[in-house]
Amino acid sequence: MRSMSQRLKGKTVLITGASSGIGKSTALEFARTSPNDLKLILTARRIDTLKEIATEIGKYAEGVKVLAVKLDISKPEEVNGFVGQLPEEFKEIDILVNNAGLVKGVAQAPDIKPEDIDVMFATNVTGLINMTQAILPIFKKRPDGGRGDVINIGSIAGRESYQGGSIYCATKAAVRSFTDALRRELISTRIRIIEIDPGQVETEFSIVRFYGDKSKANKVYEGVDPLTPDDIAEVVVFAAGRRENVVIADTLIFPNHQAAATVMHRKSTS
Ligand SMILES: NC(=O)c1ccc[n+]([C@@H]2O[C@H](COP(=O)([O-])OP(=O)(O)OC[C@H]3O[C@@H](n4cnc5c(N)ncnc54)[C@H](OP(=O)(O)O)[C@@H]3O)[C@@H](O)[C@H]2O)c1
Repeated sequence: MRSMSQRLKGKTVLITGASSGIGKSTALEFARTSPNDLKLILTARRIDTLKEIATEIGKYAEGVKVLAVKLDISKPEEVNGFVGQLPEEFKEIDILVNNAGLVKGVAQAPDIKPEDIDVMFATNVTGLINMTQAILPIFKKRPDGGRGDVINIGSIAGRESYQGGSIYCATKAAVRSFTDALRRELISTRIRIIEIDPGQVETEFSIVRFYGDKSKANKVYEGVDPLTPDDIAEVVVFAAGRRENVVIADTLIFPNHQAAATVMHRKSTS
């Protein structure tokens, strides 16, 4: 634990989608692990929520400087202008956690709403790629071809497709391909390309999927014991906290009763 906090000491960490779920937990976990000397840049669309998280972190990690920035990663112009408007002391980013993402609906072709297709690709794929391209030049300026970590949150859905999730699965498969290509392209550098693929995690994810209908979202978790966002955050921070020569290239994390995207042991609730 101590060596992990030593390795993270002085780093600047940028997290997308830090207002909720896995992104929020990741922010809190980085702060818990390296409470004395760390900079966190928290981004999402809900700036007020980010500011509340910054206050929460301030209560237990006095050495963590937090910058909350409103950023919609589905808007290329916002991503393009992002690095330029960062205060000088937050510009030297060491770790990029590409976490922001979403699923909309359970419709099957040919009934999938065009706007849902667009928002999933614009956020999960183009947003993640644009963000990576915005930050990589910072990494590449460092010695030995470059240094820094890109940690992409993929999904079991990127490895296996399921009915009613075709577009979401396609976006996460795209994340997987992009991530694997990037690792090969950057092989002569010290930049680490890391993918973390969660199985089922209880967050706001299903509420967003069902357009805000909480009762439908709750049904997803009936009779099962999903992962918590903290479970994934621990893996993210563990990966970032390894010795520089160690790359946790790829991980798949299930709750105990899950064995595939749609293979879930459900206890009877009646
Ligand atoms: N929950 C699961 O079962 C599960 C499983 C596998 C993978 N994942 C992946 O884990 C990641 C995090 O999801 P989660 O489960 O933590 O869901 P969540 O609680 O809904 O959090 C999603 C985060 O993404 C942000 N976001 C969405 N659209 C955005 C945009 N256009 N620009 C900037 N930020 C945006 C949201 O912030 P704002 O709304 O404030 O912008 C929020 O902070 C996603 O990539 C998801 O695909 C989740």
